[in-house]
Amino acid sequence: MSASSATLAPLPALHIGQYTIPVPIIQGGMGVRVSGNRLASAVANEGGVGIIATVALSLASKYYKKGKDYYQANVKALIDELQLSQEASPGGIIGTNCMVAIRDFEAMVRTSVEHGAHMIISGAGLPLRLPEFAASRPSTALVPIISSLRAARLLAARWRKLYRRLPDAILFEDPNTAGGHLGIRRNQLFSEEYSSEQVVPQLAEWSRAEYGDEIPIISAGGIWNRSDIDRALSLGAKGVQMASRFLCTYECDAHPRFKQAFIDAKESDVVIVDSPAGLPGRALNTPFTRSLFHGGRVASKCFATCLDACTCREEKDAFCIAEALHRAQQGDMERGLIFTGTNGVRHTHMSHVRDIFRELLTGEGSEEGAAA
Ligand SMILES: Cc1cc2nc3c(=O)[nH]c(=O)nc-3n(C[C@H](O)[C@H](O)[C@H](O)COP(=O)(O)O)c2cc1C
Repeated sequence: MSASSATLAPLPALHIGQYTIPVPIIQGGMGVRVSGNRLASAVANEGGVGIIATVALSLASKYYKKGKDYYQANVKALIDELQLSQEASPGGIIGTNCMVAIRDFEAMVRTSVEHGAHMIISGAGLPLRLPEFAASRPSTALVPIISSLRAARLLAARWRKLYRRLPDAILFEDPNTAGGHLGIRRNQLFSEEYSSEQVVPQLAEWSRAEYGDEIPIISAGGIWNRSDIDRALSLGAKGVQMASRFLCTYECDAHPRFKQAFIDAKESDVVIVDSPAGLPGRALNTPFTRSLFHGGRVASKCFATCLDACTCREEKDAFCIAEALHRAQQGDMERGLIFTGTNGVRHTHMSHVRDIFRELLTGEGSEEGAAA
């Protein structure tokens, strides 16, 4: 069978809160403007959920003036991104990613809700107060990212008791494959215990037994092609979140040199760094990480006070993560830090978001299809 004639069974729609998502794919939020309005609207136009990452969104905006009013600038930049994405995808489902660990978490949630975000995905800490900050628009779906069944239980019970609402979905991110900050300690990495294979079925069973399947489980981390999606659904997930797959799209909001770095990278170029957020992070091996590993001085001056707790600001023994990620997003491949999932290095060429969806839905143009 040729690649172009490959056919696949339709994927089931995903129901989260009041939304029916025609294609059960959520695009993972990628901070410091790697997923801004362009990527989010392109994904939403294909029937998935487009996610604008809110962390340090202002740095590449007209609102940020170095050292001045970083938080206000983030609010204005987020309003712009939401408006632009809604204009580009009027019928699409567009949400935001708000990290608990950032200082303006509450402001990012409130701004998202007030400016029409359909969904808020929230991790890097347990979003215990998310329903309170999002209360002005109950239709916004709230989706916490968790790293274990224990965390899911705790959060759902807490939200039910305090806010009389449940998470509209729960997203599990596999730290063994996901990109960016990872939700476990470095010494827990690469253990089976925290893998999707173990945790997704536990969560699906818990949702079924305790909540009559009312909380759909979303699987994230290491999802690249249609077989990965089918596998996640067979484990009990109702949908997937994919981030690394969208890095080398024309619509991804980062600089072309940032995207080229993935195309040039090889499998051994995925490394783990210790983020000043106190979490391990998965990144590409670049001059920045090599310098970091050899004790070089790398962007060590805090200039955005983005994180609640930050070893760069407090102990001056790390690097400024906002600055390092921003440099990469702007195309500075010498001094920038590039986050990636284990799959980021599989990119061989640039694509349009539309082509990726076509491949995932029909098999057309897929590696598997081509091999068949
Ligand atoms: C460049 C990059 C930046 C990311 N930034 C964020 C972020 O700001 N907030 C967040 O919750 N997750 C972030 N992530 C994690 C993704 O949203 C996603 O859950 C994860 O990477 C899924 O694994 P995959 O990349 O294998 O698809 C980031 C991932 C990448 C690759």
